[in-house]
Amino acid sequence: MAEDLIINQSVSKEAQYQSLLPQIEGLLHGESDFVANMANVAAALKEQFQWFWVGFYLVKGDELVLGPFQGPVACTRIKKGKGVCGTSWAQRTTLVVPDVDDFPGHIACASASKSEIVLPLINDNEVIGVLDVDSEFLDHFNDTDKLYLEQVISILLNQNSK
Ligand code: SME
Repeated sequence: MAEDLIINQSVSKEAQYQSLLPQIEGLLHGESDFVANMANVAAALKEQFQWFWVGFYLVKGDELVLGPFQGPVACTRIKKGKGVCGTSWAQRTTLVVPDVDDFPGHIACASASKSEIVLPLINDNEVIGVLDVDSEFLDHFNDTDKLYLEQVISILLNQNSK
């Protein structure tokens, strides 16, 4: 496992993902512990993109419970169907929210958060959690983030099943 990531923030978002993805694969290689891998994925994404908050919520019963993350302290539990995270879980789909104030029922863990992307972690056809990313800037996420973050999740879940 490489000890340091090579981070270049002066290129396009797409190029940043293309540089980071193989490094995340390397970081997770040979490690099957899911919590450890989620923690390193959150840290790698935070280091590359300097997002306000990035982390995981995990399905436990009828709730999402806070998992490994990077950023300020956050809400611990979110019910299925509630907020952006609970809606992504219920609808089993990625949600890109350009302005969190326009999302009915958005859960404001931090007032600084202005836009958000949430992606479900689907393993064996079952949602086991979500990846949540928050930005302090409006309209910060788009289809590029959706495309590459889905690949990050795929790397994470593949590693988990090894
Ligand atoms: N805003 C999220 C809650 C989680 S925090 O952003 C870390 C939501 O509406 O589900």
